[in-house]
Amino acid sequence: MKRSILITGGAGFIGSHVVRLFVTKYPDYHIINLDKLTYAGNLANLKDIEDAPNYTFVRADICDFDTVCSLFEQYAIDGVIHLAAESHVDRSIKDPFTFARTNVLGTLSLLQAAKHHWNGNWQGKRFYHISTDEVYGALQFDGSLFHETTKYDPHSPYSASKASSDHFVRAFHDTYGMPALVTNCSNNYGPYQFPEKLIPLFINNIRHGKPLPVYGKGENVRDWLYVVDHARAIDTIFHNGKDGETYNIGGFNEWKNIDIVKVLIKTVDRLLGNAPGTSDHLITYVTDRPGHDLRYAIDSTKLKTELGWEPSLQFEEGIEKTVRWYLDHHEWMDNITSGEYEKYYDDMYKNR
Ligand code: NAD
Ligand code: TYD
Repeated sequence: MKRSILITGGAGFIGSHVVRLFVTKYPDYHIINLDKLTYAGNLANLKDIEDAPNYTFVRADICDFDTVCSLFEQYAIDGVIHLAAESHVDRSIKDPFTFARTNVLGTLSLLQAAKHHWNGNWQGKRFYHISTDEVYGALQFDGSLFHETTKYDPHSPYSASKASSDHFVRAFHDTYGMPALVTNCSNNYGPYQFPEKLIPLFINNIRHGKPLPVYGKGENVRDWLYVVDHARAIDTIFHNGKDGETYNIGGFNEWKNIDIVKVLIKTVDRLLGNAPGTSDHLITYVTDRPGHDLRYAIDSTKLKTELGWEPSLQFEEGIEKTVRWYLDHHEWMDNITSGEYEKYYDDMYKNR
């Protein structure tokens, strides 16, 4: 095998797309997917590649330093693509400790294990940390964008924990010379996203005629990127990015929440054969999220000019594909909402 790459969080939403891309595109790489299988991890996301000869799944916690060290030894890891994290803002508001543990201490545990194992021999090594645009804080409705140089200003416990992990990665580059880089991406959408996030939650609720809880007035703006385009960017940056650098990844695709909700209603109703307007009454304005960031918008010009990456899908096309996917794969969704997928792991790991 030419390379041995540890991908963390590969059973989650974005991680599963990254694992699939690397396993299929690089048959001469060994891909080791390290995932704790929290509520957000789901091996059904990787059913199509689980038997690939260049793929190994390991169930472990990134905070378990001894296990992480032994994986570096056992598989002679030379590259890390680190996605494992607690990722939902609303959960971070209820339980910030779990976010600090996984996102900050878990990242530190991986960095320390890589440092021990690589032991100053940085040739051919790379630690790639996946972060979010939320670390930059909130923009006003003034056309401004997040640049790589924008000052960090996180507001939620989630973004504060991601900001802290980003600083640790940069500190390991600056202090020890570890070949490391960070990318900050905007909101992703697409297949296999856990239905606590806006787009899959609302598609599922429309399908079942359940209320659509829009926070505040629905005026907050997010910049949406199709998840496969994020995975393509990660591939480009892992191979061609420069150590010590930061790259912003975004879709130049800003939408107000309420406008996205209207597109989702229209698309789901059309694909289900409902008359236009059938599900409009499901929109329900609810109390706003505390500290709700007003607007995110990424400038990804650096990535385009230096590494030639651009999004491949227009939003209209991506949303149509996404809604179709969730309707066609409703068993995937039903397994999650019934909790069936977690029982599957309990059975699978009971005797190990
Ligand atoms: P996700 O919640 O869908 O998946 C996270 C995965 O990490 C799950 O498989 C979970 O089991 C695993 N995990 C959690 N804690 C772990 C631990 N202690 N040890 C090992 N594995 C653990 O998240 P996602 O949306 O796919 O996000 C992946 C990464 O991308 C995160 O780092 C997130 O901050 C970042 N990101 C997400 C978005 C987005 O829109 N979803 C945007 C930008 C950046
Ligand atoms: P989310 O998918 O949780 O991503 P993030 O908070 O990381 O941007 O939410 C996207 C936007 O949708 C955000 O502005 C919050 C809003 N939202 C709702 O209005 N209702 C909901 O039920 C959810 C989950 C999100």
